[in-house]
Parts: sequence; C-alpha cells; structure tokens
Amino acid sequence: MRFDILTIFPEFFTSPLAEGMIRRAIQDGLVTVATHNIREFATDKHAMTDDRPFGGGEGMVMKPEPLAAAVKQAKGAGSGGRVVLLTPQGRTLNQKLAGELANAEQLILVCGRYEGVDERFREAFVDLELSIGDYILTGGEPAALVLLDSVIRLLPGVLGCGDSAVNDTFSPGSRGGLKYPQYTRPRVFEGREVPEILFSGDHGAIERWRFIAAVERTLARRPELLAAMAFSPAERKLLRAGGIKLPREGCRDERRER
Ligand code: ADE
Repeated sequence: MRFDILTIFPEFFTSPLAEGMIRRAIQDGLVTVATHNIREFATDKHAMTDDRPFGGGEGMVMKPEPLAAAVKQAKGAGSGGRVVLLTPQGRTLNQKLAGELANAEQLILVCGRYEGVDERFREAFVDLELSIGDYILTGGEPAALVLLDSVIRLLPGVLGCGDSAVNDTFSPGSRGGLKYPQYTRPRVFEGREVPEILFSGDHGAIERWRFIAAVERTLARRPELLAAMAFSPAERKLLRAGGIKLPREGCRDERRER
C-alpha cells in the first residue's frame, strides 16, 4: 500500500515514520509513505499556499492550484489513489472505516491548514473528507498520522501475529465491546493484587472471567457499544450469574412488569 501525504509541514512526519511498527512496515516493503511539500507547488513568486477569503472574514484559505498540482503529482506516483482530505467537517474515522481504507492501493492524504481549503479544490479532487473526532486541531497533520497508524497496523504482515488485529477492542471481528483488564508482574503492586483466577491454570474459567469483565467494563464505559454485541443464551446465563444485567434484558423485564 502507498500513502502520499500533502502538507506544508513534511517534517512533522519524520519521527513518527521512523519509529516502531510503522518504521518496520516501511522497511519490510509492506507500505510506502511519501510526503509532498505543498509549498513546492506554489506558482507565485512568494510561494503562497494560502490567501484571504473572498467575502472577507477571519483567517486564510488554502489556494486550490498548489493543492491540485500536488495531488496530480501524487496520483502519477501511484495507481490512481483515493484523495482523502483531513478536516473536522468530514466523516468520523472508526475501526470499520480504517479497515475499508486498508484495502486501497494508494491513499493521498491532504492536510488542510488555516480556515480550510478552497471549495473548488474539494469539489474537483477530494474523494473522502475525514475527521478524527469532534474537536479542532491546528491542522490536518496529526489527523493524517492517526489515520496512517490505524490503517497500517491492519495491513497483512504488519502485526506480529497475523490475526491479532481481529481481536482489537473496536475491530468488527471482535465482539464490538471493550477489552478485559490485563495484568503482568509483579503479582502485588502498591498493595493491589492480580485477580486470583488468572493463576488458576483453568483456561475455561479464565476465559469466562475475562468475558464477564469485558462486558462489565463496556456496560460501565460505553453502554452504547453493547447494542452491537450479540450474546448466546449460554453467555447471557454466564453474565447473569456474574451479576450483570444487560440493558435489553432490563427492557424486557420492564415490559413484563407493566
Ligand atoms: N483538522 C482540524 N481538526 C481536525 C479533525 N478533528 N479531524 C481531521 N482533521 C482536522
């Protein structure tokens, strides 16, 4: 897979691309990441990439010509990539969308700055507008990095064990809920002990404990995720025995009570 990042701050990406799993994926040839400095595509003598908005108002707007020229160059370097504009006005990134984007051969990530990009560039060149959450960053660069990271780790061969992405907290391949609590040595930390069951050697019991703990945590922190989780009758029984009342069961009970 190939990423082309269009930015006025190419050095923003230097260290993140040179560390950990992303660095290894690049070294192993699983992914290619190229940055393009938008400023180099500016046509006027001051190398301007932004200008004042027509109609007045605060801030600066990114000019369309340098962005368009940079996209054309990036497309020429790849295989007809999808152009993604990072913007708080976009569709919110989630694990499912990251999985879809991991199937692309080339993604061209356009990092917006200032008050936005000229609307005509968006209309003519952008295939997908993407936000990483309902908050405003100083520019699209941190968002591009988040997207890059979430997609690269899904590429075959990037994670140590081929299947480990399937069991991620938010992966559609998992139950759709949050993960159970994890422990490692020491056995006692600041007076807090690791749950005894994890030393039992009884893999079935450990699996049941983890299942209950994961559902309990999901119910407490992200109850809306439980709606997407399907439980077998045996699992429901197990949860009831663990003292967990699923919201849908609660509804049914309510109806019965009426
Ligand atoms: N640029 C500024 N804020 C952003 C956000 N939340 N997501 C994507 N791009 C952005």
